[in-house]
Amino acid sequence: MLKEAKKNNKAIFHFNINNLEWTKCILEECDKLKVPVIIGVSESAIKYMGGYNVVAALCYSLITDLNIKTDVCLHLDHGSSLESCQKAIDAGFNSVMIDGSKLPYKENVELVKEVVLYAKNNDVSVEAEIGSMGSISQDELKLGTNTNVEDCLNFVAETGIDSVAASVGTVHGIYKGELNIDYDLIKKLSSELTIPLVLHGGSGLSNDILKKCVESGITKININSDIQDAWSIAIKKYIKENSSVIDPRKIIGSGFEAIKEVVDSKININE
Ligand code: 13P
Repeated sequence: MLKEAKKNNKAIFHFNINNLEWTKCILEECDKLKVPVIIGVSESAIKYMGGYNVVAALCYSLITDLNIKTDVCLHLDHGSSLESCQKAIDAGFNSVMIDGSKLPYKENVELVKEVVLYAKNNDVSVEAEIGSMGSISQDELKLGTNTNVEDCLNFVAETGIDSVAASVGTVHGIYKGELNIDYDLIKKLSSELTIPLVLHGGSGLSNDILKKCVESGITKININSDIQDAWSIAIKKYIKENSSVIDPRKIIGSGFEAIKEVVDSKININE
């Protein structure tokens, strides 16, 4: 999926899921738009939903029962250990991210190599991260450290990963101000690398900025917070206006359109 997108200078979106409703909405919308999609799921979301097997069964059963025709990749987001990646692979995930970015370079490489070995034996692809991403939480911005080009090239060569997440100035979470994205770094990394480049922290960025990232060489864009934000605004509005409704399907379902609108608006950047 990503190799093809890199060849065509397009991006594949990774949308994070939290539950059945999220998964259903994302699958239905991407199927309607006829675009391939990566369903990303974090360890904490997996724990919330019951476990790796639950998530895999949920995703694949929805694909079957909803007759989803578009290509779907089920991907572990920010796996923190070899064990976590093994559990995802054993449960049938197609792709895993091992995030050793907080480790010293050598330890990151060793951890990633172990995951790659296990993944390759199971025909699963691996994303890994180098450099440190920033984050925003309760309006407190913590900037990361941008990825060093030489380290990144060595990291990719030493580990044999399929895609690489580099820190280029984005942050996890929704940052409303202007971020200093290093487009030259994206261009440099993308032209030197043969594998796809992943942008984490895609939320809060305008479509023009996302487009510029793709034009510079980003192939995978991760979106989580934008959907949570849109869904929670819609739900809160519904509850305020319909305080007597107790049917959970009506309450939770009142956020469906908001999820689909985010998916729809992001996918637009590839047109
Ligand atoms: P956002 O929180 O900015 O959507 O980032 C999501 C992400 O990078 C998941 O890996």
